[in-house]
Amino acid sequence: MSTVAVILAAGLGTRMKSRLPKVLHPILGDPSLLWVLRALPAGLGGAVVVLHHGKQQVVAALETWQQAGLLPCPVSIVDQGEPLGTGHALQVCIPELDRLGTTRVAILCGDVPLTSAATVSHLCEAEALLLAMDLSSPGTYGRVIQHQDGRLMGLVEAKDATAEQLEVRRVNGGAYALPWPALRRALMGLTNHNAQKEYYLTDAVAALAQEIPVTVEVCDPEELAGMNSRQDQVALQAAAQHRIQQHWMTEGVSFLHPDSTLVGPRVILQRDVLLEPGVRIEGSVQIGEGCRIGQGTVISDSSLGEGVEVRPYSIIEHARVGTGSKVGPFARLREGTDLAEGVHIGNFVETKKAKLHRGAKANHLTYLGDTEIGEGTNIGAGVITCNYDGLNKHRTTIGRNVFVGSDTQLVAPVVIGDGALIGAGSTITMDVPADALTLSRAPQTIREGGASRLRSRQKKGTALS
Ligand code: UD1
Ligand code: MG
Repeated sequence: MSTVAVILAAGLGTRMKSRLPKVLHPILGDPSLLWVLRALPAGLGGAVVVLHHGKQQVVAALETWQQAGLLPCPVSIVDQGEPLGTGHALQVCIPELDRLGTTRVAILCGDVPLTSAATVSHLCEAEALLLAMDLSSPGTYGRVIQHQDGRLMGLVEAKDATAEQLEVRRVNGGAYALPWPALRRALMGLTNHNAQKEYYLTDAVAALAQEIPVTVEVCDPEELAGMNSRQDQVALQAAAQHRIQQHWMTEGVSFLHPDSTLVGPRVILQRDVLLEPGVRIEGSVQIGEGCRIGQGTVISDSSLGEGVEVRPYSIIEHARVGTGSKVGPFARLREGTDLAEGVHIGNFVETKKAKLHRGAKANHLTYLGDTEIGEGTNIGAGVITCNYDGLNKHRTTIGRNVFVGSDTQLVAPVVIGDGALIGAGSTITMDVPADALTLSRAPQTIREGGASRLRSRQKKGTALS
């Protein structure tokens, strides 16, 4: 028994009016197609994604997700060519589904992101099931026609429906579980003799329902809502945001202003985390117990230990922040930043590929790139690791309990030994041994009375000429 998921994603997405394929448009930072794939249960025989428009971009995204371990099962791609309808999309999958030894298919749409993992698991376990919704304004959705006992009798697209059929409020959600051999046979008999001149999957499902009983289950409409326009995208994001925030509130997380706070589906928050207004957290993020995330902060693909305080307007990307550290305000932690416990990164400090050991501090106006900084070291205001010579990047290694005076430039590659002290305003180009005092400054000169002499020359217009 091998159930394979088929995800329909070849459509153009005309109403999005975008260069980006519709299924790559994000909801809380994750593209619609990724939501769909992540909801699939483990243990499927595979997933087949049907693509055509924007195929290259979608394939590139799939590769990234695969490498990041985000896909629950192997994914194969089928190019539909010119999309001739949802039934045609399944027809072009026949060789791939046969190759996978498919006995049952679960069919989902790539632009329906909020179907819960529980609903998709239930679908994948069903013999023959159609997910439907009851809508007060059923609009252009296909109408579900049922037998007295609830079994599926037929499916009629709105454009082909009679006035009487249009009155039906129960609509096709576009998610199905069906036995593959029977569906395969039904697909062979499809025609495009309908209002849209398309090969409808719904016709194949209706034909199959004459052979075997197909159950109809009604879901929460939010779970089956599709993203066809920017308006839909906003509505879906609001629904997802509400669902995610409610979950974290029940787990002991505080939101000072939920309406302005965005938390993605792959974010994990521990209890007593407090999110101030305007915080956006997306991608794969873990935030430890008792962290406070300041107003306007953006965090992606990062982990924070316990009790971290991120002050307002900080950006944290691909970084690790150790327990009890303080970051910001206005700090920027870039990829490869690794802060141990109790590290302080203050205002207007940028870090990249920077490993700071326990208790190290860089509190003001500093760039730390391609560097390792030892325990207890203090980096003064305005220090810069000059890591780039125009061609290559070089490393700066700083030992423990070093004091780097303000406005120092460390010209990499350079190594500073434990306990060294660097005088303010230095340009350090040579390695500094442990415990040494070093400084490099032009000697200061003093000319008594020189200021008034200069001013009088300025008045006569001869200064510095
Ligand atoms: C379809 C159903 C309709 C249902 C609705 C639910 C059919 C004929 N109709 O209508 O009963 O109420 O979904 O949302 O199936 N796609 C392809 N290749 C194609 C055509 C479409 O991959 O040739 C993909 C689209 O990218 C999309 C999905 O299939 O992800 C649904 O296609 P769409 O054109 O939106 O179908 P609807 O008209 O909405
Ligand atoms: Mg649609």
